Amino acid sequence: MSSDADWQELHCTARKDQINALERWFFNAGALSITLEDQADQPLLEPGPGETPLWEAVRVTALFAGDQDLSPVLEAVPGELVTKAPQAAVLVADREWTRVWEDQFQPMQMGNRLWICPSWTLPLKPDAINLQLDPGLAFGTGTHMTTAMCLKALDAASLEKTCVVDYGCGSGILGIAAALLGAKQVLGVDNDPQAITASLNNASRNDISTAQFSASLPTASELEDWKGSADWVVANILAGPLIELAPTLTTLMAPRGRLVLAGLLEEQTEQVIAAYAPEVMLAVADQQEEWVLLVGEHHSL
Ligand SMILES: C[S@@+](CC[C@H](N)C(=O)[O-])C[C@H]1O[C@@H](n2cnc3c(N)ncnc32)[C@H](O)[C@@H]1O
Repeated sequence: MSSDADWQELHCTARKDQINALERWFFNAGALSITLEDQADQPLLEPGPGETPLWEAVRVTALFAGDQDLSPVLEAVPGELVTKAPQAAVLVADREWTRVWEDQFQPMQMGNRLWICPSWTLPLKPDAINLQLDPGLAFGTGTHMTTAMCLKALDAASLEKTCVVDYGCGSGILGIAAALLGAKQVLGVDNDPQAITASLNNASRNDISTAQFSASLPTASELEDWKGSADWVVANILAGPLIELAPTLTTLMAPRGRLVLAGLLEEQTEQVIAAYAPEVMLAVADQQEEWVLLVGEHHSL
């Protein structure tokens, strides 16, 4: 079932302890965002860092592009992850979805200096570092715990005059934050062309020049140009790709460069640390529920 609607939603119900696994399953199936609501119909985005929905039974809405065929997704939703499976896709017009986001997406503080602000509200702290970002097609609004942990790590770092690679940039949120926090040059990399477009648009909306922020598919030439020069590499991807990408990411790092990895679960920590151990000594720097943040420094002199 593919459609001409702007968006499609799948609604289902799940227990609190099923949410993280269900979110991962929907994102793997192509979902663009997940919204959680309680039974009293008080909408809430994915839980913010450190927050856990108070309600036990959660209504889950997974948003998909209008042209995705959702029949296979509907058939494959694992029964053990839901208390009530989605029955059919609900078509959503663009304006309606935008209004829902506008009601729900509000400025969020990430560490001491950094805020993520949607365009439809004034920054709560005009003197803070306000990254303007609206939800879009690419992953990365700051509402997901993995993004939030990376943003807080960047906020706490000294990025003045550094070179930063945001690998798996999605919306570009991490790289743009690094640029606003003082990085002199940032490269966003993503294997999804839509993420490259989103990152460049979002950088421009934050008045970041193309000299300071560039974004590219992972082409050999672009990566070659950055070899050995990144003071910081930040990558919020899943554990599998992070392990596969170990040689690529460590090659980009400058001597004594720092690496920030998110997107892995607690039980995957040792495996990811082992994949990077020849080059980088990673350690757990933060954890939100089962999501872990690893940070480390390149061994080389
Ligand atoms: C979880 S999103 C993170 C987006 C954003 N950096 C954030 O922190 O919110 C992961 C991104 O990595 C990209 N990605 C996944 N595997 C990749 C790979 N092997 N090479 C490059 N990008 C990849 C996806 O397209 C997606 O945009």
